Amino acid sequence: KIPYVVGSKSPTAVAINSASKAGEWIKSRLGLIKEINTKCSPQDLVTDVDKGAELMIRKLILTHFPDHAILGEESVDPGAEASANALTEAKKEAEYLWIIDPIDGTTNFVQGYPFFCVSIALAYRGEVIIGVIYDPIRDEMFVAEKGKGAYVHGNPTRVSRDDKLADSVLAVGFNPDREVALPVNMKGITALSDRTRSLRAAGSAALHLAYVAAGRLSGYYEVGLNAWDIAAGALLVKESGGIVTDTVGNPYDIGVRRLVATNGKIHQELLDVLKTAEATGV
Ligand code: IPD
Ligand code: CA
Ligand code: CA
Ligand code: CA
Repeated sequence: KIPYVVGSKSPTAVAINSASKAGEWIKSRLGLIKEINTKCSPQDLVTDVDKGAELMIRKLILTHFPDHAILGEESVDPGAEASANALTEAKKEAEYLWIIDPIDGTTNFVQGYPFFCVSIALAYRGEVIIGVIYDPIRDEMFVAEKGKGAYVHGNPTRVSRDDKLADSVLAVGFNPDREVALPVNMKGITALSDRTRSLRAAGSAALHLAYVAAGRLSGYYEVGLNAWDIAAGALLVKESGGIVTDTVGNPYDIGVRRLVATNGKIHQELLDVLKTAEATGV
């Protein structure tokens, strides 16, 4: 048994409370953003609300678990290499590592397009054991615990039953890394557009994963993601009966950046399409 209950509150309760509090605050700041900056590219945005939400979540977690390590998107230098290094460092630091994306879907948040969320995961010795994703607009709280299933507001989530790509609706992403990731994604998107019922690119990796877990989408593909985009959602998909790998079929671990998550039934077919399209990335 994993000895992760330290202190008075379970880490799952702390994750849920933190996501809920941050989510409510983020929602209250819609249309009231004070500062918008760019990170790696003009398409890669960060606001005062991203930073404020991360601080809020950090404080709440450290109140209960002062010894735990935290990897949060807005405390890491931007760039693929920087994020990979930050993950390696964070893993070394402590047995318990919280992985936070304070707002997943910042572009949507800036636009007032109501599709963004808070994503919080806890890893024990590098393996995700808790995943929480909160959509404050729809008030949907997705929660997964390793080996205990996944739920949205207490109702078990289950992946879809589609067993052919042709009958499936998948999510994809237009990654803000225009140099390396986006050209690869575009090859995949072009190939998949012809082989699926339809594609969606709603702009939040974590919510796409939560929707795969809940059977609202049958899969999700994107190259160029970071640990905080995926960690909570990957556990949700797995605990809902789905499969999460990299784009060549290696099992998910917290370092994966080129992602395929599906209901399991269409997984191989999707991997085969990406391989033929040379859309697996490196
Ligand atoms: C982004 C979103 C987007 C995905 C990008 C991510 P952010 O996260 O998940 O859907 O395409 O790759 O970076 O920056 O809004 O947290
Ligand atoms: Ca970002
Ligand atoms: Ca993100
Ligand atoms: Ca973010």
